[in-house]
Amino acid sequence: MKIFAANWKLHKNPNETREFFSNWNRQALELSSREVIFFPQTVSLEAAATALAHSKISWGAQNSYFEAKGAFTGEISAQAVKDMGGKYILLGHSERRTLFHETDELIAKKLKLVQSLDLIPMLCIGETLAEREAGKTKSILEKQLKGSLALVDKKKHLMVAYEPVWAIGTGKVASIAQVKEAHEDVRNILNELGFSNKTPILYGGSVKPDNAKELISIPSVDGFLVGGASLEVESFLTICGV
Ligand code: PGA
Repeated sequence: MKIFAANWKLHKNPNETREFFSNWNRQALELSSREVIFFPQTVSLEAAATALAHSKISWGAQNSYFEAKGAFTGEISAQAVKDMGGKYILLGHSERRTLFHETDELIAKKLKLVQSLDLIPMLCIGETLAEREAGKTKSILEKQLKGSLALVDKKKHLMVAYEPVWAIGTGKVASIAQVKEAHEDVRNILNELGFSNKTPILYGGSVKPDNAKELISIPSVDGFLVGGASLEVESFLTICGV
């Protein structure tokens, strides 16, 4: 089953979220053979939870802290996300790594708590353009995977999203050959680290309605993490293949 995840970043307030789902729920009747996951911003999670309460569509938060509760002003509780009915937490997105200085070490601690609550972490990894041009893509992916998964429980669920940083929000999508090679590298590294061969590996970075078909036909691509093109019902539905 292919997985289609929407990363809404800091878009859509609760009203806009409700409006999106009232259109979505009217149109998306045929998604039974797909796993669809929404990652709204934190203040819109309640609106998403209500709108999706009786559907098979899952949702989660874009980040969470490594403690479930306590004196951590401004942080997001994975426990609260779980209590609200969320299923996933996005972790280590490149915007978190670069703009908010998240390290693999920090991500590993967050991931540990997420798994201990039986939420599913979707771990994002990816190289910058400079790293790719220096021939370092595989070693960067390996470093991020080893570091971010240092405290992982291999018996619990995990998803990985390969997102080349230079393709995120730029309109520059990775070529088929680049996606194939990176996904094979990620799969090999996960195998070497002892993860199940069934761990899904998603692609993200400027996925659009006009390139989704070709990208999803790559056998090693288990799904997408979609930013900009997931904000409109029509374009995300097209990507999901309806
Ligand atoms: P994009 O974002 O689809 O807008 O490139 C993807 C992401 O950041 O997850």
